[in-house]
Amino acid sequence: MKFFIDTANLAQIQEAQDLGILDGVTTNPSLMAKEGIKGEEAIMKHYVTICETVKGDVSAEVISTDFNSIIEEGKKLAALHPRIVVKVPMIKDGVKAIKWFTENKIRTNCTLVFSAGQAILAAKAGAAYVSPFIGRIDDSSWDGVDLIAQIANIYSMQSFKTEILAASIRSPLHIVKCAEAGADVCTCPLDSILGLLKHPLTDIGLAKFLEDAKKTR
Ligand code: E4P
Repeated sequence: MKFFIDTANLAQIQEAQDLGILDGVTTNPSLMAKEGIKGEEAIMKHYVTICETVKGDVSAEVISTDFNSIIEEGKKLAALHPRIVVKVPMIKDGVKAIKWFTENKIRTNCTLVFSAGQAILAAKAGAAYVSPFIGRIDDSSWDGVDLIAQIANIYSMQSFKTEILAASIRSPLHIVKCAEAGADVCTCPLDSILGLLKHPLTDIGLAKFLEDAKKTR
């Protein structure tokens, strides 16, 4: 399973990159706004900086919602860097646009996916990635991880090539459960990635080893 970081914060992207386990980045308009990035020029520049920091795919989201505008915006984003993946919402014009991008060799990430039916449409249109938002599903008292397992089963039975990118991750446990359920990628906040490191027995064991090592020096 690949690890993406879900942020537009350059320091956090660098920290995950330095850990050596980062395969890509996802952003969205809310994450860009959180970093105070304003204006088209600044936004475009920020995407390029992210692409230069990380070796993997970088999802950049369109804010247009009609077919022609999604195509124009997506073409501009894709032209920024070969590893940009155009993130397109799961709406009717979005599906049409994903199909157009696929036919024109521009890779897409279909975002705001909350059902298996939506995931089938995204795959049929040729999306490189589909992003089910598991945390937001959990927030509505459904089980987000169940959706990952359902999509993984359908994609495997139907031989769809679209990668399942589990999004809206809230915890280290989400990452483990998504790996078990067959996600190809997890896009996570830095805290959830670092949370995977933690186990009290590791800390206790290391303290004991270091204490005993003193006896051997
Ligand atoms: C995915 O690509 C989205 O950017 C993200 O995972 C949404 O997460 P949230 O539900 O925490 O906003």
